[in-house]
Amino acid sequence: MRTVRILKKHRVRRWGIVLSAMLMSSILLAACGESSPSILNPQGPVANQESNLFWFILIVATIVFVIVEGLLIYSIVRFRERPNMPLPRQVHGNNTLEIAWTIGPSVFLFAVLIATIYTMFNLGNISNNSPIGQLEIRVVGHQWWWEFDYTNTNPQIITADELVVPQGTLIHTLLKSDNVIHSFWVPQVTGKTDVVPGHNNDKLFRADTPGTYRGLCTEYCGLNHAHMSFNLIVKTPSDYMTWLSGQEKAAQTPTDPAAVAGMKLFTGSGGCFACHGIVGVNLNSYTDPKAAGLVGPNLTHFGSRRIIAGEVLEWDPGSCKVVTDSSGNASIQNPDGCGLYQWLKDPRGIKPENDMVIRQLSPTEIAQLIAYLESLT
Ligand code: CUA
Repeated sequence: MRTVRILKKHRVRRWGIVLSAMLMSSILLAACGESSPSILNPQGPVANQESNLFWFILIVATIVFVIVEGLLIYSIVRFRERPNMPLPRQVHGNNTLEIAWTIGPSVFLFAVLIATIYTMFNLGNISNNSPIGQLEIRVVGHQWWWEFDYTNTNPQIITADELVVPQGTLIHTLLKSDNVIHSFWVPQVTGKTDVVPGHNNDKLFRADTPGTYRGLCTEYCGLNHAHMSFNLIVKTPSDYMTWLSGQEKAAQTPTDPAAVAGMKLFTGSGGCFACHGIVGVNLNSYTDPKAAGLVGPNLTHFGSRRIIAGEVLEWDPGSCKVVTDSSGNASIQNPDGCGLYQWLKDPRGIKPENDMVIRQLSPTEIAQLIAYLESLT
């Protein structure tokens, strides 16, 4: 009696563990759903084709799984050992069976092969099926942030962290790196392509729905590989043209006293201009030859962006309010809630081993720099 009770208790506990594990994993997976971009929610023809292929292969794999596991379970139950059972019938060398389990899997694999080749050809045809003209963008992988050079806009523009494209336009990206191998991936729009030093890959895609889609680096590229994300921002053609004409302009000279002081910090001795370019300040244009020697992102329109250094932090002017007291000293109302403040205070503490070296700035200096950066819209 006692043994039965202990066994029952064990069984209850085992089911308890199994159920809680299932519950935990579904909670974890649900948590992924919100913030992670999914290939199963495609927003353009390339990702669409890729997700169709995924579903096809999943169906084939499910059929194989059900057949194999079904036969396995049937055999385990039907042919289990019973007392005084004779040796079961031996099927070794049965030609029918040998041929069946050679041809069966081949048929499934052939179906997957055909579907894959069909998808590859369709992806190659995407340029024929895209109505609006092609935009060419050189994507440069840095350790650890993304640079986007619009090479066939007139004039050329350069941005970082945010890749802004018009809806429905074929985008031709040229993928370039001068350091290590990265990999460019926007799950909802296009698959992964490696960004290899000395070997420029390229990639065509189109995004059909306006919105913001997260992009990732998907090849391990050093300590901060996980902090090398970007946003693909898809705009309607008219919103895109408004954005583009804003980006083409040189930076405006600020008038607000705090921002003027911030600009002086940027251009002063030991200032940010040693690594960062701003058109109209230390660069004559985006294609100024001086730009080639700058290791940091181009900041000409930093105020229009919302993420910092490969999305290690987000920021927005609303949470970085600059206030000036009666004696003219600028400060940030809530430094802890301002990503840009945290970044300028200690960029290497936030993102170890990144290239941004900065002297210790006072809270006032940080507020002045933020006022200036916010003015660069
Ligand atoms: Cu760049 Cu991983």
